[in-house]
Amino acid sequence: MAIGDKGWFRRVFMVIAPRLLLGGVLTGALSMSVLASDMAEYHKHELEKAMQLKPDIEHGKQVFKTCSLCHSDDGWGMVQGIGRMKPNGYYPQLAGQHPNVVIKQLSDIREGNRDNPTMYPFTLDKYVGGPQGVADVTAYIATLKRNPDNEKGFGRDLAYGERLYKDNCVECHGEYGEGSNEKFHPRIQGQNYTYLLRQMQWIRDGKRRNANEKMVRQIHNFTHRDIQAVIDYVSRLPDPPKDIVF
Ligand code: HEC
Ligand code: HEC
Repeated sequence: MAIGDKGWFRRVFMVIAPRLLLGGVLTGALSMSVLASDMAEYHKHELEKAMQLKPDIEHGKQVFKTCSLCHSDDGWGMVQGIGRMKPNGYYPQLAGQHPNVVIKQLSDIREGNRDNPTMYPFTLDKYVGGPQGVADVTAYIATLKRNPDNEKGFGRDLAYGERLYKDNCVECHGEYGEGSNEKFHPRIQGQNYTYLLRQMQWIRDGKRRNANEKMVRQIHNFTHRDIQAVIDYVSRLPDPPKDIVF
């Protein structure tokens, strides 16, 4: 076989090129996953660090100007309705949420452990800063009062919703939907209905990757009616008593 033989060249090319290509793809995938786990590690430390830093509320107020583009100045997740601002279930209410929950969710979103393509670009260091900025904005959010008039459901299936809540949710979210700062259990009382509904569906269907595994198991066979009824009930829970420890 002569060196100039095109058949030989083609055979070598067909064998080597795909291997090179596969090697490249595998190396790429490997370095991407190393990068992702590095990012997760970085933000895990960031969460721990942010929780220990002394927050600067004034700086947090500056950072929150970016957040308020969507979560509104009062942190209620309001949008302009006809003639007045109204709560919008696309944006969650941040006011009144436990600081540990805000810090964790913000870090999860920053590290890509909870998908939020709308918000993600606004959580980069250039807007938030590192762990100090995360601590500062969280402390500022903690000064905001909860909206007493959050978005609610249709109110048609409340007795059924109440039963589901008492049997499936109280253990972690508490009798009043108050959650627990210490355990990172979100306060769901007073949250906007459409937001809660979407999170329930995403948690049940495995779309919210940072979900609590025990909760996923608890609601895995909830039907649409179940989710709607229980969330409608939650959206109408009154403020927890003043002396309750979150
Ligand atoms: C471009 C709009 C936008 C901006 C700007 C934005 N967010 Fe969000 N944020 C959202 C949306 C939308 C969600 C809900 C996503 C979902 O349904 O999972 C959300 C969710 C959150 C949550 C989770 C709430 C919960 O109950 O789990 C936190 C915490 C949060 N945002 C904090 C912030 C902070 C702090 C900033 C500013 C640094 C910010 N957001 C900026 C749109 C935005
Ligand atoms: C075993 C404990 C547990 C049980 C039981 C449980 N949850 Fe949760 N739930 C959690 C935790 C923890 C999170 C936050 C996970 C994370 O860090 O992202 C959460 C998140 C949520 C969220 C999203 C809140 C937000 O601000 O984004 C909603 C809504 C919710 N739970 C509703 C319910 C309802 C309704 C029930 C009962 C049908 C229930 N949960 C049962 C532990 C639980």
